[in-house]
Amino acid sequence: MDYALMHKRIPVAHIELDEATGSIYKINKVLAPEHLPVGVPLRKGTADRTALNSWWTDRSIPTSRSGIREALETLNISSPKMLLARCYGLSLSDQYWIKPSGCGLSWEDINFFDNAFSDDIGDVLFGHPPKGLHLDLRSPDNTSDGCLKKRWKIINGKRCLIKGGSNPFRQQPFNEAIATGIMERLNIPHIPYTVIWDDGSPYSVCENFVTSDTDLVSAWRIMQIKKKENNTSVYQHFIHCCNTLGAPDIRQALDQMLVLDYLIANEDRHLNNFGLLRNAETLEWIGYAPIYDSGSSLGYDKTAAQILAEKDILCKPYKKHHIEQIKLVTSFHWLDLTKLSDHRELISGILSTDSAKDFIDDHRKEAILSSVKKRILALEKMAADSTKKKYQMTTQDDVERNIAEDYTKNKDPQKMLP
Ligand SMILES: Nc1ncnc2c1ncn2[C@@H]1O[C@H](COP(=O)(O)OP(=O)(O)O)[C@@H](O)[C@H]1O
Ligand SMILES: [Mg+2]
Repeated sequence: MDYALMHKRIPVAHIELDEATGSIYKINKVLAPEHLPVGVPLRKGTADRTALNSWWTDRSIPTSRSGIREALETLNISSPKMLLARCYGLSLSDQYWIKPSGCGLSWEDINFFDNAFSDDIGDVLFGHPPKGLHLDLRSPDNTSDGCLKKRWKIINGKRCLIKGGSNPFRQQPFNEAIATGIMERLNIPHIPYTVIWDDGSPYSVCENFVTSDTDLVSAWRIMQIKKKENNTSVYQHFIHCCNTLGAPDIRQALDQMLVLDYLIANEDRHLNNFGLLRNAETLEWIGYAPIYDSGSSLGYDKTAAQILAEKDILCKPYKKHHIEQIKLVTSFHWLDLTKLSDHRELISGILSTDSAKDFIDDHRKEAILSSVKKRILALEKMAADSTKKKYQMTTQDDVERNIAEDYTKNKDPQKMLP
């Protein structure tokens, strides 16, 4: 079937979708090459079909999403990609969509920023039985990324992302709230998360930080714009790509993210868990997106003893070890760690509620508190010493693969760095 790939109101290309697989099998004419998704190259006047397909597939719910298999069975749909056309490929994180050829729909009529959307897909993804025979599949949940169970919901007129935690500790929602408290205190631009409860389970809620004028472009997409040289570090490659695109200086925002991730021992800051914002019409780069998705941290999947031992902590996206990655910080001048003097109260306040105790016992809470304290002290020392040492950039300890943590341990095909 023929579609126009649209960017808000701008037709970008004429494409054909394969009805059986949901893939793009032909790109007929590129009308606005500058509006192609970032990292999709133009060759001899046409867009690279493999690259466009990979962008399109990444737009669908990952097959590693918790509960996706059951949801697809309920919907009698073969793959998450088949859900994309059901919502015109619309998302709440950017302004791309597909318009069936010959149809009079406009972006104003259907975008999810200004128009309501159905709860049916969200209900099914959350394991609730369908309400009727005819489900309305128009929902931004069809285009949401990430492995954790999640759904978009309109709460008091605001588009909010509701996200669960992985078994057995369901710690991610609490971690999002703790990371919020840390970033508030350190003045790090972030999207605030709070914890809510549904049927005895914790969920995090945050508002949408993308508006109908903006696109969130992940670091993964940004790093597709050119090939990384072997002797260039992953960090340098990201900075080069941002400079090539003409983005504003993001060094301080990056420093802030690295500091947060060190403090909370984040294990899943892969390249789709941070990015830049741009204006969807002018394509002007606005800057680093506020920090989101910091939940896979604070030993979320480890025992209390493992948390205390600080062993086997993964690190992404630049270096494999936090102690190496924190060396990439270019300046600590903005950092005032005395602002974290009440970190014990902050963390205890979130983990000590009666409901939270069902998942996080006192022993676990103490292990988390002790590990955060240790990292604050270590960071204090590093920040004090940092003026004396000059960091030599190398590719040593660089992360080779950029993959999201799969809580079902049923890995997606692994994505290699460009
Ligand atoms: N507040 C938000 N506003 C807009 N888009 C968001 C927001 N939070 C997350 N996203 C988008 O949704 C995706 C999935 O959310 P994320 O929190 O990363 O889930 P997970 O923890 O399962 O990886 C992100 O990669 C990002 O593209
Ligand atoms: Mg994520």
